[in-house]
Amino acid sequence: MLQHKLLKPVTAGTAFVAVLALGMSVVSTTGRAANDNNGAQDEKRMIEIGLAIAASDGIQLNMAGKDPDMVGLGSYLINVSGDCNGCHSSGPEAQYTPQGNPYLLKPPNGPFGGVKKINPATYLGGGFDFGAFPSPGGTVHIVSRNLTPGKSGMPAGDLTLSQFTRILRTGVDLDNAHPNCTLSTNPPITTNCLLGLPPFNPPGVPPFDGSKLQVMPWPAFQNMTDRQIAAMYVFISAIPCLEGGPGQTPGRCN
Ligand code: HEC
Repeated sequence: MLQHKLLKPVTAGTAFVAVLALGMSVVSTTGRAANDNNGAQDEKRMIEIGLAIAASDGIQLNMAGKDPDMVGLGSYLINVSGDCNGCHSSGPEAQYTPQGNPYLLKPPNGPFGGVKKINPATYLGGGFDFGAFPSPGGTVHIVSRNLTPGKSGMPAGDLTLSQFTRILRTGVDLDNAHPNCTLSTNPPITTNCLLGLPPFNPPGVPPFDGSKLQVMPWPAFQNMTDRQIAAMYVFISAIPCLEGGPGQTPGRCN
């Protein structure tokens, strides 16, 4: 007990010194975070790895008018840290080619050839059905969207950079694909809608916000830097267009 009492002011003092030291390093002339020994080299490696992955996965990139560094950084964030295709392919069984699916057995019992390879026919094309939401009770299905550029060359068909940024920062569903079920609008919304508002709020079901993307990990992505979000936008603008996905009309690619 005595030891505890003695320790307390010491710890508080140490923390104070640490805060001072941190404050000083933040305003130091180099402007670098004190614990970052690698500096800009990290991003350089991310760009190299991002470009290498896109090439080894056979993703055809339209580089016209694009900064290769942004494409590489975006590829890293989309394919490595964000695992966007883990949800934005049409589903786990089609995310990789059969020979390139590292979750499968190798011959003679399975097709996996030893090198992972994404399936270009589903790459970021959306359509992965996460089932009825919320469960139990919900009837609307949450389905990942087609992120590939449409004929305009813009991600998800027609998103501007500022819209894309807003989606990642706030989770807003600009397509309003599943508003909350409600009787207080004219006409009332009773189909393809999300439970949450009375009287569509059964006990035990959390009050989900129908205006926000569900399942999509935007609460994690919202803290990415502007440059990182812009890099992902540039990368998605460079990938091939795919038909399909929720809310998309046929012929979106040409
Ligand atoms: C855990 C699964 C998951 C991951 C990982 C994921 N998403 Fe999503 N995303 C979804 C789902 C599901 C939706 C549609 C949600 C809905 O309908 O409520 C969505 C929607 C979106 C939308 C909205 C598209 C539109 O047309 O409005 C964008 C943009 C998006 N995701 C980008 C990304 C990016 C970029 C990444 C990777 C950095 C990513 N997502 C990773 C599941 C995921």
